[in-house]
Amino acid sequence: MPVLAIESSCDETAAAVVTAEGMILSDVVHSQIALHAPYGGVVPEIAARDHVRAIVPVVSAALDQAQLPLAAMDGIAVTSRPGLVGALLVGVQVAKGLAWGAGKPLVAVDHLVAHLLSVFLRPASGRDGSGGDGPVSALSAEPEAHPPRFPFIGLLVSGGHTALYMCRGPNHRQIEELGATRDDAVGEAFDKVAKLLGLGYPGGPIIDRLATRGDWSRARVELPTPMGRKDSPEFSFSGLKSAVARHVASADRPQTEAELADLCAAFQRVVTRVLVSKAVRTAQRHDVNRIVLAGGVAANRELRRRLSHACTRSEIALHVPRLASCTDNAAMVGYVGALKLAAGASDDLSLSPTPRTELPRVTRKGRGKRASRQ
Ligand code: KG4
Ligand code: ZN
Repeated sequence: MPVLAIESSCDETAAAVVTAEGMILSDVVHSQIALHAPYGGVVPEIAARDHVRAIVPVVSAALDQAQLPLAAMDGIAVTSRPGLVGALLVGVQVAKGLAWGAGKPLVAVDHLVAHLLSVFLRPASGRDGSGGDGPVSALSAEPEAHPPRFPFIGLLVSGGHTALYMCRGPNHRQIEELGATRDDAVGEAFDKVAKLLGLGYPGGPIIDRLATRGDWSRARVELPTPMGRKDSPEFSFSGLKSAVARHVASADRPQTEAELADLCAAFQRVVTRVLVSKAVRTAQRHDVNRIVLAGGVAANRELRRRLSHACTRSEIALHVPRLASCTDNAAMVGYVGALKLAAGASDDLSLSPTPRTELPRVTRKGRGKRASRQ
């Protein structure tokens, strides 16, 4: 039996119908990118208001595309954390209303757990219009086609989060943060650098495209390797962003197209190298030979290529979700919700959103000491 899932944690209003086997029966995403683009980042108030406008049509479209009525659902899954509280609230309230009205169980899902397990999603044949895996075909070493076995190391790279996890099983208690960013998330760094360079929003795909035309070795800029110690599973990207800002501020004229492309290539090279070396090193240290790359930045072609090559060299299997499952979507939420329901879990109508993940954090933002493992 399928689950109806709702996701509204940031700037995508999404709904999907998914089974506990990870079969996607429908996957509808309404993006707010155009609304936030003039500000170069997500504006929480605008996000919440647009979720209110979009959510009912998006949920209806998900049921229509699945060709199933609400009555056929096993339950309603919703992202309740982490995210922008005003944005989360819209999805949570609608999910509660639907669950109460239809007499279905409600189940809350952590957005980070959903990203980490998105690799288990499979489109039902004939129902997926996404055109397959996109950039995966650009890799010379292909990621594994089949889903991974546990345990695996999860490298979650998105606009709001950047962290390495030990994933021993699908339950959130089996997922352990090994290290995270101390400041900006990597997607946030892409977005801020693109904003500094006047390139537009969101910055990740723009820098990804421009970098292919540039040459990092021609860029006349010193970029620090952030948290360069290979053995540390922690990241830091704000220094890198500041170095680009200083470079732009010290220039006596605007950058040419070619200089911009070189600068993007240099920035992307430093970022992808640090992500790849830490992911591989972490897998080796924990003696795990499977890595899952997840989150919106997993769409980055250089990251996929470098990680794929590094994994092949180190005899590590790399698993990457299909492109449409990397960026925010409700199918990943539905999968986790379906697993929880199957395990007998559910939430009551007192459910309320919270900005923090349920996964215990070991990395403190800023310069504080790492917390001890829980
Ligand atoms: O997972 P996601 O859709 O939302 C969050 O949960 O944050 O990730 C969005 C982030 C944005 O910062 C965007 O710039 C970045 O993913 N992104 C990319 C690429 N495509 C999206 N970053 C680098 N290269 C890309 N091709
Ligand atoms: Zn996300």
